[in-house]
Amino acid sequence: MFAFDRVEGDPATRYQHLLRQAESLMEGERDWLANLANAASLLYHSLNQVNWAGFYLMKKEELVLGPFMGLPACIRIPISKGVCGTAVREKATQLVPDVLQFPGHIACDASTRSEIVIPLLVADRIVGVLDIDSPVPQRFDEEDRQYLERFAHLLVDKIDWAPLLEDEGVRHQT
Ligand code: SME
Repeated sequence: MFAFDRVEGDPATRYQHLLRQAESLMEGERDWLANLANAASLLYHSLNQVNWAGFYLMKKEELVLGPFMGLPACIRIPISKGVCGTAVREKATQLVPDVLQFPGHIACDASTRSEIVIPLLVADRIVGVLDIDSPVPQRFDEEDRQYLERFAHLLVDKIDWAPLLEDEGVRHQT
């Protein structure tokens, strides 16, 4: 049985523990659905002040809700919209200290105040995004960005994305 535990300490200590737990959870397992589901749970239960953690996956030029923890969320996000769509268009992490100031932010949970969205780039294709929301303004800083990008890279590395890449809807990097 996987032993989930939270450690105390500074953010770096907690993030390093989180990364080790993620590696341990994915050891010997490359299934995208199983690993993204566990990743969402791990993030949601490990990070403080987070009300939603999960994934949107590219399908036919739009983002479709994937594994997550938190309140039920909007299912489809066009890449022209929202923080998630912006992360896909710009192929870059979006760190949003105040969602009320982000033009086009999509409010799935009215209590969300800040957000970070990290694109998942496999070879030259975006397969989806990691989205984490908080009810606290300015919850995420550069250190969160650095470690969560490492978390996203770990997922990219450990998961077999072939079933999603075979889907012709996965967006090619241009
Ligand atoms: N806020 C996101 C939508 C997804 S929910 O936060 C879960 C956005 O603006 O793209």
